[in-house]
Amino acid sequence: MRIDIISVFPDYLSPLNLSLIGKAWGKGLLDFRVHDLRDWATDRHKTVDDTPYGGGAGMVMRPDVWGSALDSVLNAPQGPPQLIFPTPSGHLFTQRAAEQLAQSEHLIFACGRYEGIDSRVADHYKSQSNVSVQEYSIGDYVLNGGEVAALVMIEAITRLIPGVIGNPESLVEESHNSEGLLEYPVFTKPAQWRGLEVPEILLSGNHAKIAAWRAAQAGALTAQRRPDLITN
Ligand code: ADE
Repeated sequence: MRIDIISVFPDYLSPLNLSLIGKAWGKGLLDFRVHDLRDWATDRHKTVDDTPYGGGAGMVMRPDVWGSALDSVLNAPQGPPQLIFPTPSGHLFTQRAAEQLAQSEHLIFACGRYEGIDSRVADHYKSQSNVSVQEYSIGDYVLNGGEVAALVMIEAITRLIPGVIGNPESLVEESHNSEGLLEYPVFTKPAQWRGLEVPEILLSGNHAKIAAWRAAQAGALTAQRRPDLITN
C-alpha cells in the first residue's frame, strides 16, 4: 500500500519510522511519502493560508496551494486512490472504516492546520471520478491539526494489512472486532500480585468455560462502559 501524507509539519509524521509500521515499510509492504505542503506554495514567503471570507478568528488554508499539491500526488500510478481529510467535522473514523481503507492500494492524507482547509478543496475532489474522498474525525475533540489524526488512522488501517502484524490471530479477538464488544480483561504471571488474584476460571484449563467467562466479561464491560455499542 502506498500512503502519501501532505502537511506543513512533515516532521510530525516521523513516528511512522518506528515499530511494526516502520518494519513493514522496510519490508516493502508499506510505501510512505511525506510531503511538505509549502513545496507547492508559489510566493516568496511560502504562504499556505489566508484570512477567512466572512470574518472570524484564525486562518484558512488556501485551495490553490492544496489543489497543486493534491493534483501532483493523485497522478501517481497506483490505481484509484482514496483521499482522506482528517477534520473534527468529519464522519467518525471506526474499525469498519479502517477495514474498508485497508483494501486500498493508495491512500492520501491531506492534513490541515489552523481553522482548516478551504471547503472547496474537498468538494472539488468529490466531483472527480479518479479519486474517492472521505472526511474523517477520530473523535469528539479538537486537535491542532490533522497530523496526529492521520497517524491514528494509519496505524489502525495498516495493522490490518497481511504481514504487518506478526501474529494475525491477535487481530481477531480484540476490542471492536466484528462482534462489536469491548475486549475481555486479560492477565499474565504472576498469579498473585499485590494481593490481587487472577480469576480462578482462567487457571482451570477448561477452554469452554474460559470462553464463556470471557464472552460474559466482554458483554458486561461493554454494557457498563459503552452501552452505545449494544444495539439490540
Ligand atoms: N483535526 C483536528 N481535530 C481532529 C479530529 N478530532 N479528528 C480528525 N482530524 C482533526
